[in-house]
Amino acid sequence: MSQTKLKKVVIKMGGEEKLRIILRDFYKRMSQDILIGFFFSHLDTNQIADSQAKFILFAMGESHSYTGKTPTSAHLELPPILDGHFNRRIVILEQTLKDYQLDRIDRDTWIEFENAFRKIIVKD
Ligand code: HEM
Repeated sequence: MSQTKLKKVVIKMGGEEKLRIILRDFYKRMSQDILIGFFFSHLDTNQIADSQAKFILFAMGESHSYTGKTPTSAHLELPPILDGHFNRRIVILEQTLKDYQLDRIDRDTWIEFENAFRKIIVKD
């Protein structure tokens, strides 16, 4: 199950603190990206990154409750997220994780977790 595998990855890379650092960097990169940056204009990417960290910890079973927006509700007010946007996010994620020295298997685990949300987030 990808959640359990992701938990091992997060522990190995340095725990919750490192998760927040990586996600803040990942969201900063997305917000500056020519293809998907516009989704984040006028939004506080650190705040979104920290909410995403809480969501991941919840999905991993590390925390018992999560009161933030869910992946289904969080994107309703945004312009439609298309497959190409989602693919671009995965490319930026892959590059970010590489820069933090996550190995191929751990990067794939994280990407598998993200891809599990593709169908509910992408509008076709
Ligand atoms: C290309 C794909 C994606 C884009 C462009 C995107 C963009 C965004 C943006 C702009 C927000 C902030 C919404 C707001 O504050 O009103 C947001 C929130 C959120 N996203 Fe995504 N997202 C994407 C994929 C994902 C994926 C794959 C997940 C789950 C693994 C996810 C989980 C969340 C969650 C939980 C929030 C709520 C954070 C909060 O409460 O502030 N998103 N997303």
